[in-house]
Amino acid sequence: MRVLVTAASKHGATAEIADVIGGVLETQRVEVDVLPPDDVERLEGYDAVVLGSGVYAGHWLKPAREFVDRHEDELRERPVFLFSSGPVGAPPKDSDEPAEAGRVEATTGAVDHRVFGGRISGSQLGPFEKIVIACVRAPLADDRPWDEIADWAKEIARYLSADEPALARTEPAPLTEAELGDRLLAVVVAARTHGWDAERALRERIRILEDEVRAAEGSESV
Ligand SMILES: Cc1cc2nc3c(=O)[nH]c(=O)nc-3n(C[C@H](O)[C@H](O)[C@H](O)COP(=O)(O)O)c2cc1C
Repeated sequence: MRVLVTAASKHGATAEIADVIGGVLETQRVEVDVLPPDDVERLEGYDAVVLGSGVYAGHWLKPAREFVDRHEDELRERPVFLFSSGPVGAPPKDSDEPAEAGRVEATTGAVDHRVFGGRISGSQLGPFEKIVIACVRAPLADDRPWDEIADWAKEIARYLSADEPALARTEPAPLTEAELGDRLLAVVVAARTHGWDAERALRERIRILEDEVRAAEGSESV
């Protein structure tokens, strides 16, 4: 299992989050490359992608947006996990999601998107950024939740290790409809890593079954 962790970062805070995610994945026996988005040419050889960006004026940074545009098809073929590093001074809210969150989630078929607190360091800001930060009265602070970030990386590793068996598993029948939903979702997601469309496969199987039933009924009535 080889995973690409890539993040667009202007002042280094998001890049450090990417490094920590990569480090935790490695402790979970996952092979990891941590690279800036502009350095990634192809996704061939990666089983999954973790993609993040700092948020500025409500948007992801350009290298992350361009990465999605450049690798749209390849991203859809593998599990993708998104993160944003943004709010400082208060815990992240739904409204802190960057403007392109919905589009990027839909384009990549992302499994998850987390918004983590960010870091604003006074010594790194340019003159225009200092004015913006003063106007919106954002505090200069480091609100990156390292434990939460490490837990999320472990969740990703668990998800990926459960991925393949989901296709082959023969387990006792689910006890509730909700449990059945969970199992079906795992199979659909695992199928996608092979480029298969689980819904189409099921429809095709039902069509064949219906043909067989019709053929059997026809032969009975003769
Ligand atoms: C000029 C400026 C604008 C920002 N705008 C936002 C914003 O709209 N939403 C947000 O959640 N965070 C905003 N932030 C906070 C950054 O996203 C946060 O500090 C992030 O961790 C920076 O990541 P980086 O160091 O990787 O570039 C802004 C920070 C600066 C300096």
